[in-house]
Amino acid sequence: MLHNLKKWLKWKKTNKEELLLENIPKHVAIIMDGNGRWAKKRGLPRVAGHRAGMKSVTEITRAAHELGVEVLTLYAFSTENWKRPKDEVDFLMKLPQDYLASELEDLVQKNVQIRLLGTEEGLPSHTLQALFEARQRTEQNTGMILNFALNYGSRAEIVQMVKEISSKVKSEEIDSDQIDEKLVGQFLHSSEMIDPDLLIRTKEIRLSNFMLWQLAYTELWFIDVYWPDFRRENFEQAILEYQRRVRRYGTVKEDS
Ligand code: IPE
Ligand code: IPE
Ligand code: MG
Repeated sequence: MLHNLKKWLKWKKTNKEELLLENIPKHVAIIMDGNGRWAKKRGLPRVAGHRAGMKSVTEITRAAHELGVEVLTLYAFSTENWKRPKDEVDFLMKLPQDYLASELEDLVQKNVQIRLLGTEEGLPSHTLQALFEARQRTEQNTGMILNFALNYGSRAEIVQMVKEISSKVKSEEIDSDQIDEKLVGQFLHSSEMIDPDLLIRTKEIRLSNFMLWQLAYTELWFIDVYWPDFRRENFEQAILEYQRRVRRYGTVKEDS
């Protein structure tokens, strides 16, 4: 695996491999990490890293749209991120508004559909309002789905699913024999979307409570780059690597 941009550009020059537009991952999910460390390295407060990370969000969203990605999920705030200092949390909760104030018109034009993945309860009303407005304005769009995973935690999502299914079993709306993988999937926040084909994480090699159910057969790709430094070239690098993988789903394939 190639880990930095310079190496990648050199590799690209010599290998001349091109992205196959017919094999673009349909759903790409990204754990955007390293904002705080990016800022620290520059002697700046952590929040400066979050601000800088917004530029990457804009660039990667545009790239995903241009390449024909159908669903882009961005992990922006986990259920565990509430444990951070209040100032940082407050800053993070204002970012969706700032991002949408500058990008919403462009996203509307691009036929993008904005969605929210996570628990609405607990999010400040100003954050929710901005996201609801964006969701409503893009409701009729038919293009790429842009999912913001905000106040999202996979375990919380699973617990909620178990509660909902068990209450339906209790009220006899569902028979316990009917519980299967499909039904479980229908009770998750992600019920209306396909599972991610490709997961990208910057800076760390772990899932940090992200889509534990949905990532069962996702291709994982990690890069040692801070999210604010993550560029379109890195995104293409991830997709190229994805195109070189053989997805077996437990079966045997002739070319592997
Ligand atoms: C990712 O960057 C953004 C969020 C988790 C909200 P971090 O803030 O986690 O940055 P590091 O990992 O501390 O560098
Ligand atoms: C994961 O990053 C959450 C988001 C990117 C939103 P964290 O920075 O919170 O993860 P850990 O604490 O390093 O596992
Ligand atoms: Mg982090």
